[in-house]
Amino acid sequence: MSGVLAVLLLCVYVLASSHGALVIFQDASTPQGLDGAARQLQGLDGAARLRQKRSTDNVNVEVYSVKVDCKVTSRFAHTVITSSALNKGNFSQEVSFEVELPKTAFITNFSMEIEGQTYMGEVKEKEKAKKQYEVAVSRGQTAGLVKASGRKMEKFSVSVNIAANSNVTFILTHEELLKRTLGQYEIMTRVKPKQLVQHFEIVADIYEPQGIAFLDAYGTFISNELLPLVEKTVSDKKAHIAFSPTLDQQRKCSGCDGTLIDGDFIIKYDVKRAESIGDIQIVNGYFVHFFAPPDLPRVPKNVMFVIDRSGSMWGDKLKQTKEAMLTILDDLQKEDYFGIVLFDSSISTWKDSLTMATVENVNEAKTFVREIKDQGTTDINGAVMKAIDMFKKDKENQKFSERSVSMIILLTDGMPNSGVSSVDQIQENVHGAIGGNMSLFCLGFGNDVEYSFLDVMAKQNQGLARRIYEGSDATLQLQGFYEEVASPLLSDIDLRYPDNLVNSLTTSHYKQLFNGSEIVVAGRLSDNSLDNFLVEVFAHGFEDDFSVKGQASAQEWDVLYPEQEYIFGDFTERLWAYLTIQNMLSKRESGTMEEKVNATAKALEMSLKYSFVTPLTSMVVTKPETDKGPEDPLIADKLTEDEREKKQQHGYHTYGHQLSSHSTSSFLSAPRSTSYVDGDPHFMIELPEREDALCFNIDDRPGTIFNLVRDPLAGITVNGQTIGDKKVAPNGKINTYFGRFGIVHQMLGVRLEVTTQDITVFKDGKQAKLYWSGTSSLKGANFDLQVTKDRSLTVTLRGSVRFLVILHKVWKKHPYHQDYLGFYTLDTHLLSDSVHGLLGQFYHGVQFEIRDLRPGEEPDKPDATMLVKGHELTVTRGWQRDFRSDIKNGDNIPCWFIHYNGNGLIDGNHTDYIMSGLFNTV
Ligand SMILES: *[C@@H]1O[C@H](CO)[C@@H](O)[C@H](O)[C@H]1NC(C)=O
Ligand SMILES: *[C@@H]1O[C@H](CO)[C@@H](O)[C@H](O)[C@H]1NC(C)=O
Ligand SMILES: *[C@@H]1O[C@H](CO)[C@@H](O)[C@H](O)[C@H]1NC(C)=O
Ligand SMILES: *[C@@H]1O[C@H](CO)[C@@H](O)[C@H](O)[C@H]1NC(C)=O
Ligand SMILES: *[C@@H]1O[C@H](CO)[C@@H](O)[C@H](O)[C@H]1NC(C)=O
Ligand SMILES: *[C@@H]1O[C@H](CO)[C@@H](O)[C@H](O)[C@H]1NC(C)=O
Ligand SMILES: *[C@@H]1O[C@H](CO)[C@@H](O)[C@H](O)[C@H]1NC(C)=O
Repeated sequence: MSGVLAVLLLCVYVLASSHGALVIFQDASTPQGLDGAARQLQGLDGAARLRQKRSTDNVNVEVYSVKVDCKVTSRFAHTVITSSALNKGNFSQEVSFEVELPKTAFITNFSMEIEGQTYMGEVKEKEKAKKQYEVAVSRGQTAGLVKASGRKMEKFSVSVNIAANSNVTFILTHEELLKRTLGQYEIMTRVKPKQLVQHFEIVADIYEPQGIAFLDAYGTFISNELLPLVEKTVSDKKAHIAFSPTLDQQRKCSGCDGTLIDGDFIIKYDVKRAESIGDIQIVNGYFVHFFAPPDLPRVPKNVMFVIDRSGSMWGDKLKQTKEAMLTILDDLQKEDYFGIVLFDSSISTWKDSLTMATVENVNEAKTFVREIKDQGTTDINGAVMKAIDMFKKDKENQKFSERSVSMIILLTDGMPNSGVSSVDQIQENVHGAIGGNMSLFCLGFGNDVEYSFLDVMAKQNQGLARRIYEGSDATLQLQGFYEEVASPLLSDIDLRYPDNLVNSLTTSHYKQLFNGSEIVVAGRLSDNSLDNFLVEVFAHGFEDDFSVKGQASAQEWDVLYPEQEYIFGDFTERLWAYLTIQNMLSKRESGTMEEKVNATAKALEMSLKYSFVTPLTSMVVTKPETDKGPEDPLIADKLTEDEREKKQQHGYHTYGHQLSSHSTSSFLSAPRSTSYVDGDPHFMIELPEREDALCFNIDDRPGTIFNLVRDPLAGITVNGQTIGDKKVAPNGKINTYFGRFGIVHQMLGVRLEVTTQDITVFKDGKQAKLYWSGTSSLKGANFDLQVTKDRSLTVTLRGSVRFLVILHKVWKKHPYHQDYLGFYTLDTHLLSDSVHGLLGQFYHGVQFEIRDLRPGEEPDKPDATMLVKGHELTVTRGWQRDFRSDIKNGDNIPCWFIHYNGNGLIDGNHTDYIMSGLFNTV
């Protein structure tokens, strides 16, 4: 799949405002008190809000217009998303705008129009923006933060307070060069308006000077009956696609308010390719060269599959890898050579040299693959070095054709923790040994890989890295990746342009060209009046060297692009800028120190000049003043793969990919449920399906041991013991926190004790200790522990749940408080139906109903009646902090607070959960 385009979501929140009915609850005893209560009070305004449901009675915000307008000129896509909403209520409310856009796109403009006034976003250097707004940033209030959202998308969101009876219009622009993959370009627009919209419209205008070969447009949410609503006009060079269902056509059923519009709108197309040299456009002082010659025979390839079989691959991952390998082996051509290296802490090979892909050899290899079993730890260095060695020997023996293409495909799901485990050292070893003589492709399977390590290593060796998401379609992802690289057409491609006429050329040497892809090179011309521009391409082909020459001349804008309405302004220049920035960002990860510094400086300069939100810049939006004074600015960042990964490692699994089926829209399914306890024991039960959460506290004597999770079928128990403050604070409240956890896996015979000092593993009468003071990991065949220094511990039990323990370090000399722990359960759905415990009883959901929202004891904390488990409880709207992504300040998660130790919500009385020992299981 290739370039993906815009996505849109629009949600309405009801604001925490002094005159509104729905507000935030704040528990004065939260351990944020450690950093001063003032922060919390300031934090109240923007940070926590209650998501309002369409079905409840006071939906007073009407989204009356949503428009996605996409113009594509020579693969460069420029998309403007406009959405307008009206606050129909007689009080001011927060209106929120959320858009999902492809990770490969850059945001280039954002603005809001409120009561005739426009508020513009401004692109600034990331570090400067952060510094300038340090106060807001330190409060964790960068609400416009762009977040990872599924596999291909990231989310931009912004909220703003809108006065009674006022309108707001949001306009977001993003740009992207569509990438050709497996013979097509793809534009994907994700639309989730969540309500019926008076004016709803998706329009795309595509102009391709080479001519359009085919074009397909459809929506994952569009049934056969609605398909005629997708207007599609394709002529030689241009295409117009529109989808604008009326209110009635949007309805899920006649007479109901639910909307059908919920999913991805997809356009796929390819262009005609007549010339071997490709298409060269010289316009407005810039040139672009699209190179994807037609009808080339494939070049034989030599491929080594290096496959991780360590303990963590156990279960689905290994099963799916084997399935994918069986198909991939069948797809090898008989002139290809191949080999298989398996690794854990030890390394074994199928045969000790590469083997021709004859039917007999492939069948033999398939038998070998079927018998792969998981075991041990992960020696990536040893495995890749072994593969390189085999290549070298075979090359020396002149086994392969001169013209064949050599590649290593590494698949791993973990971090190197056996043999050489320093990632820098591995990169150096591999880079040195490969010496530019083959390409390395890295597939990172699941969330526990150190993806940036793989990414850099692949880039250093003319390959690329890809993340394989865990889920039922992992086999297809693996096969899809292989298909992309299965047919090399050319190797060592050199694209040459007149030196004296071109400056600022983007990358013009490529190690290989695969069938179905395309090379794009752009540059700035030093002389725009040229009429002879010589282009040459040299490469190694199947039997002969490939060499083409072509001449191009500068053209007048309106000759090349006669259909002005299809074109947006200076796209050649922006395309060049986009490619240059992408090149520089990638050099920044894999060059020498000086190259890195230069590349960073260049990428930053261009990002600012062309107003692209890249990992080096931020979009700063100043919000309108309210009667309470100016609101904090919003800062939208673009995450690097590294930053995304860190978020994920801290439990940010916004994927739902375990549940994903083959339909694209399910990538966006609700965040996976997390239940946790953190702080002064604050229990939090997230219910992603309802987009809501429940919370309660348990107060008891320090030293009490509570059962948190007990799953007799899975044999898993988690108990936690509370600790108190050093001494009672002047306000007289005795705070307790969790200070010690005991985790027991009976079937695996593992016991784990986690304290604020260290982590002890007991197994088979032996014990091992890990300390918080360093980043470390311990991988057994049945479990995997990863400690991030002074921060968190991730416990993965084989084929079962993951737990995350967060360490809260308190200033050593703090008069009252001491270090404490938080406990988060991920993948709760993997536990059996008989799971119980203070947290466990909620893992499979809980039915409740909220009614009769009314002012509470305090003006900004509304009460409501909750019907749950046959009880009628008075609950209060509040929030708790989730510390997974921001360990210092936490993220505020709104929830319904159940008073009196969760009485009525939890089964029985909280004292029923008291245990007599940390490892007791009954
Ligand atoms: C808002 O409208 C409600 C119901 O129509 C009414 O009870 C309330 O007094 C109004 N509030 C204001 C501030 O006008
Ligand atoms: C950004 O958007 C605003 C409002 O739509 C518009 O006035 C402005 O010209 C745009 N800026 C750029 C650089 O496109
Ligand atoms: C909001 O905008 C819509 C469309 O532009 C207009 O019809 C409506 O009158 C506006 N409402 C208010 C209260 O300004
Ligand atoms: C390249 O892919 C196209 C389909 O996208 C196929 O028709 C063609 O045969 C392939 N060429 C080679 C050399 O594999
Ligand atoms: C790469 O290949 C060339 C030519 O075959 C050879 O001279 C060189 O030593 C190789 N480099 C490494 C690091 O093996
Ligand atoms: C880095 O930039 C400096 C100053 O522009 C230049 O002199 C130097 O050659 C550049 N280095 C590299 C490795 O590109
Ligand atoms: C829970 O049990 C304790 C001790 O048995 C008792 O004091 C308390 O009243 C009970 N609480 C409720 C809400 O039943």
